Order: sequence, then structure tokens, then C-alpha cells
Amino acid sequence: MSLLRKLGSTCVLLAVVLLLVPAKAGVALQAVDQTAAPSGISLPTDVRVQSPGWWPTKGDASRDSYIGAAACAKCHASKVASQKTNAMAQAATRTADSEILRQHDRFTFRLGPYNEEIVTKGEKSVLTVSDEASSLSADLLWAFGVGHVGQTYIYHRNGSYYESQLSFYASTQSLNITPEHSLAVPGNIEDAAGRRLTPAETRRCFSCHTTASVAKDQFDANAAVLGVTCEACHGPGANHAAAMNSGMQEQGELMISNLSRLDPVDSVDFCGACHRTWEDVVANGFTGVGVYNVRFAPYRLENSKCWRKPDARLTCVACHDPHQPLEHEAAAYDSRCLQCHVTQAKAKKDADHPGPACRVSTKNCTSCHMPKIVTPVQHSTFTDHWIRIVVPGKPYPN
Ligand code: HEC
Ligand code: HEC
Ligand code: HEC
Ligand code: HEC
Ligand code: HEC
Ligand code: HEC
Ligand code: HEC
Repeated sequence: MSLLRKLGSTCVLLAVVLLLVPAKAGVALQAVDQTAAPSGISLPTDVRVQSPGWWPTKGDASRDSYIGAAACAKCHASKVASQKTNAMAQAATRTADSEILRQHDRFTFRLGPYNEEIVTKGEKSVLTVSDEASSLSADLLWAFGVGHVGQTYIYHRNGSYYESQLSFYASTQSLNITPEHSLAVPGNIEDAAGRRLTPAETRRCFSCHTTASVAKDQFDANAAVLGVTCEACHGPGANHAAAMNSGMQEQGELMISNLSRLDPVDSVDFCGACHRTWEDVVANGFTGVGVYNVRFAPYRLENSKCWRKPDARLTCVACHDPHQPLEHEAAAYDSRCLQCHVTQAKAKKDADHPGPACRVSTKNCTSCHMPKIVTPVQHSTFTDHWIRIVVPGKPYPN
């Protein structure tokens, strides 16, 4: 059934749903505006979140319209179990739940005249910074990042949230200056401990790393469900679950965002709500900054020649199932490339296979055409999503 027909018939059916399903207080049972209107071009996330319809990081839904992944598990048990193993589900934790802090119960670092340490005892991790004259301590509350690249800590002091001056880096298994923080020796002990986040920054940080930290436009760090879980992407699920509980499958399906219906550009922009859209990167002037923009997969991908014509075979979800752990085997991605590329030099390209053949190899395509790039600031490597012929000695394309 087409989406339009489905939506048309819902108006009638909705009346029935409203009569039969006891609505939770404050939750009007209605079909969701699936997602912001289709655009066909990459848009800034600011525009997406101001448009009608659901979009990640938007934060306009009410708190009681969210029910949490445990409630989804009643009916989608395997998706909930596997999604927990994706790094996104662990993009933020309470420090008490940080494996890294548990495994390294005493970190130390010398920053100019300051001695810094993070000591973990039981559930508590305390940051202490001292110089000859004084000392400052703060309880670390949240650990951001599962730590494949690194982990940064958030604490609260004098009414504000702070981002720790030092972060854990996986490559060295030790602390160093947090990305984007000044490398200069801090002028005072407060700055040596961390950087004060403005309320807007704090909100953005939680919006990308947690679920439902913002409801009805109000930010509440303590109400956030830590990590990027089901409703961070699909939107609040109370109405959907209520309808499904009452056996109203067709109506229920319209009460949750079905993201497989997004057109290719919208689909990439959707992931770009947190990974930054092509347009976010351009608008923020990150195009000429060299390897630092490699982490913005949507920008890199959409610059590829393969993307000259946006195509569902090359969206983020064509290669990554957000409900499964990240696949590390290059061979596992070959079938994605070969949906478009012919393998025999003599084979004819056609609408189904618009891409030419490789003269070098028929397998492990990403190992040569999506190189790993080292970024000095993160002390780590990212996969370059700008699919291309890598010529040794040729500079990194911006
Ligand atoms: C009471 C059972 C139930 C609960 C609870 C439930 N769902 Fe569903 N959901 C279903 C059924 C049944 C379908 C339709 C069949 C299918 O796709 O699995 C469905 C379909 C979906 C779809 C696809 C929609 C479509 O248009 O086909 C998404 C996305 C979804 N659910 C997400 C969620 C999320 C997220 C949660 C938790 C917030 C959740 N569901 C909670 C039963 C449930
Ligand atoms: C609400 C914000 C948000 C949205 C929306 C989002 N991501 Fe993410 N994603 C993150 C964060 C944060 C991380 C980093 C997690 C970490 O390493 O701690 C991440 C990490 C990842 C990773 C790396 C996983 C790993 O194991 O290293 C992949 C792949 C990924 N995202 C794909 C996607 C895809 C595909 C989409 C769109 C369907 C998407 N993301 C949408 C926030 C988001
Ligand atoms: C616009 C969305 C967005 C905002 C805002 C944001 N992040 Fe992230 N963050 C991501 C995504 C997506 C990733 C994974 C890809 C990457 O590294 O860029 C990530 C990765 C990370 C990582 C590395 C994760 C790993 O597995 O090693 C850390 C640490 C981190 N973020 C901390 C923070 C902190 C702290 C803030 C706020 C001060 C913040 N982020 C703000 C989206 C965001
Ligand atoms: C990072 C974003 C993201 C997160 C987190 C996420 N999903 Fe999805 N989900 C998607 C996207 C995108 C699609 C469409 C995939 C496609 O088109 O291949 C989808 C599809 C689905 C579908 C319908 C298609 C199918 O495979 O049956 C269901 C049901 C679903 N998700 C449930 C869940 C549940 C339950 C959770 C939490 C455990 C969850 N999702 C977490 C992005 C997400
Ligand atoms: C053609 C396949 C393909 C597409 C499309 C794709 N990726 Fe990837 N992605 C990969 C491969 C391959 C890796 C590296 C896996 C590994 O070696 O661990 C990767 C890794 C990642 C990582 C982990 C960090 C890193 O840089 O290694 C993130 C985050 C990510 N992708 C996000 C995205 C997002 C967001 C999109 C959509 C803009 C996307 N990817 C589209 C193939 C793809
Ligand atoms: C949606 C279809 C599609 C997918 C999926 C796809 N490609 Fe392509 N790719 C193309 C087309 C079409 C071209 C030719 C574009 C042109 O020259 O205008 C191309 C060009 C290329 C080129 C030449 C680029 C250059 O700079 O000259 C390479 C290399 C390449 N693709 C590799 C890959 C690899 C590796 C994958 C999988 C990771 C992949 N492609 C996935 C359609 C696709
Ligand atoms: C061992 C590294 C390596 C692997 C693996 C590899 N390629 Fe290539 N590929 C190259 C190099 C180098 C070139 C450019 C040399 C040339 O074409 O003469 C190239 C060229 C291409 C081109 C451009 C062809 C043209 O006529 O413009 C495409 C498309 C391509 N590869 C796709 C793929 C696909 C798809 C796979 C996986 C099936 C793959 N490659 C695997 C190294 C590799």
C-alpha cells in the first residue's frame, strides 16, 4: 500500500484508535508526521529541526511520550539486544558505568604547573587538579564516548557543566588534552580542570550522545536516557506501543517513524543530524581544514564520484545497520560496491550497474578506496568516506 493511501485511510482509522485505546495522560494518540518534508538536497540540521515532523536532536516531544528501549524490547527483543552492542548505544554513560575508568583507577597527567589525576574508587570518579598553592576537586558525572577513539568527562560546578580538559585516548591508553581545547598551558586552576560549557553547548552535547535529554524544548541532563537508543532515531514510541498493545498494527505503524522511507539525501542528512550533514560542514567552514573533516562521514561520502546521483544503494544504512555492531571486515562491504560496479572490464555499465570495473581487484574494495586517515588531534584513525582512487603522494582532498 502506498504511503499516501496509508495516510489517507488513517484519518478514519485514527478516530477508532482514539476511542479504543486508553490514552496515557497527556499523550494524544495520533500518527506522527513521519519526518521533515523531503528535500532532495542536503540541508543544515538547524533547518531540519525547525521543520515540521520528527528529526533526531529536535527535542519538541513531551517526556511522557518516550517509553525507553526496555519497553520496545517487549516486541522487538532481538533489535534491542543487538543495538546495545553498537557504539551508539554507549555514546554516553554514568562514570560509574565506564569500563575505562574501572580499568584505569588512577590516571595522572602533568599540565604545565598542574598535577591532574582522575581516581576511581567504587562508583565514584574524582578529578583533582593541584598546583603549589591550591587544589580543586570535582566529581565526574558522565563519560562521553564509548572510547574506541576516546572518552571525555563532564562535571558540574557552580551551576554549570564543564568538559574535562583531559580526555582518555584509546591509542595511548592514557590522558591527553581534549580535542578542540587549547594546547596552551592554562592560566588558572579552573581552566586546567576543564572548559565551562554554555547551556546551549551542553544541550547539543547531550542531544547527540543521549536520548530524550530535551523534552518540550526543556533540557534535563538527569532525565536523559544515556546513549543513542531507539527513540533517539525513531522518535517517541508511547503511542506506537499503545496501539500495538491493542492489536492495531496498521495504525501503530504510522505512530512511529519508519526511516526506510526517507529519500537517499534525506536519509544521509538524518544520520547527519549527529554526524553532521554535508551542508552543516560547508556552512561551518570545515571544508578547507584538511584531515580534521574526515570524521564527518556524510560530507566525505557525498563528495564521492559514486554519489553524483544520490542513490539508496549508497546511503549510510546501505553499509551500516544501526541496530548491529560496526562491521570491521572489508570483505563484508564488497557486495555494497558491487551493487553498482561491474567486475569485468568488458562488462557493460547500465542503469543497474552504473559504475565501471576495477582493473586492480575484485574484492576488499574499501581497503584501498576508503583509506584510514590518521587525525593528529584525536590521536586516532577514521575511515575516509570519500570513495576514490588513492594516489600515493597526492594530497588529501577537501
Ligand atoms: C506491543 C508491541 C510493540 C512495542 C512495545 C513496540 N513495537 Fe514497534 N512494532 C510492533 C509491531 C507488531 C510492528 C509491525 C511489524 C514489524 O515491523 O515488526 C512494529 C513496527 C515498528 C517499526 C516499523 C514501522 C513500520 O512502518 O513498519 C518501528 C520503527 C518500530 N516498531 C519501532 C519501535 C520502537 C522504537 C519501540 C519502542 C519505543 C517499539 N517499536 C515498541 C510492535 C511493538
Ligand atoms: C542522535 C545522534 C546520532 C544519530 C541520529 C546517528 N548517530 Fe551514529 N553515532 C552517534 C555518536 C554519538 C556516535 C559515537 C559513539 C561512540 O563511539 O561513543 C556514533 C557512532 C556511529 C558509528 C560507529 C560505531 C562504532 O562501533 O564505532 C556508526 C557506524 C554510526 N554512528 C552510524 C550511524 C548511522 C548509519 C546513522 C543513521 C541511521 C547514525 N549513525 C545516526 C550519534 C548518532
Ligand atoms: C552534533 C552532534 C554532536 C555533538 C554536539 C557532540 N558530539 Fe561527540 N560525537 C558525535 C559523533 C557523531 C561521534 C562519532 C563520530 C566522530 O567521532 O565524530 C562523536 C564522538 C565523540 C567522542 C569519541 C567517541 C569514541 O568512541 O571514542 C567523544 C569523546 C565525544 N564525542 C564527546 C563529546 C562531548 C563531550 C560533547 C559535548 C561537549 C560532544 N561530543 C558533542 C556527535 C556529537
Ligand atoms: C541510529 C539510529 C537508529 C537507532 C538508534 C535505532 N534505529 Fe531502528 N532503524 C533506523 C533506520 C535508519 C531504519 C531503516 C533502515 C533501512 O532502511 O534499512 C530502522 C529500521 C527499524 C525497524 C524496521 C525495519 C526492520 O528492520 O524491521 C524497526 C522495527 C526498528 N528500526 C526498531 C528499532 C528499535 C527497537 C531500536 C532500539 C533497540 C532501534 N530501531 C534503534 C535507525 C535507528
Ligand atoms: C560504502 C559503504 C559505506 C557507507 C555508504 C558508509 N560507510 Fe561508514 N564505514 C564504512 C567502512 C568500510 C568503515 C570502516 C569499518 C572498519 O574498518 O572498522 C566505516 C566506518 C564508519 C564509522 C566508524 C569510524 C570510522 O571513521 O572508522 C562511522 C562513525 C561511520 N562509518 C559512519 C557513517 C555514516 C554516518 C555514513 C553515512 C554518511 C556512512 N558511514 C556511510 C563503510 C561505509
Ligand atoms: C550507487 C552506486 C554506487 C555504489 C554503491 C558505489 N559506487 Fe563507486 N561509482 C559509481 C559510479 C556511477 C561511478 C562513476 C562516477 C563518474 O565517473 O561519474 C563510481 C566511481 C567510483 C570510483 C572512481 C572514482 C574516481 O575518483 O575516479 C571508485 C574508485 C569507486 N567508484 C569505488 C567504489 C567502491 C570501493 C564502492 C564501495 C565501497 C563503491 N564505489 C560504491 C557508483 C557507485
Ligand atoms: C589493492 C587495492 C585495490 C582494491 C582491493 C580495489 N581497488 Fe579499485 N582501484 C585501485 C587502483 C590503484 C585503481 C586505479 C588504477 C587503475 O585503474 O589503473 C583502482 C580503480 C578503480 C576504479 C576506477 C575504474 C575506472 O575505469 O575509472 C573503480 C570504479 C574501482 N577501482 C572500484 C573497485 C571496487 C568496486 C573494488 C572491489 C570489488 C576495488 N576497486 C578493489 C585499487 C584497488
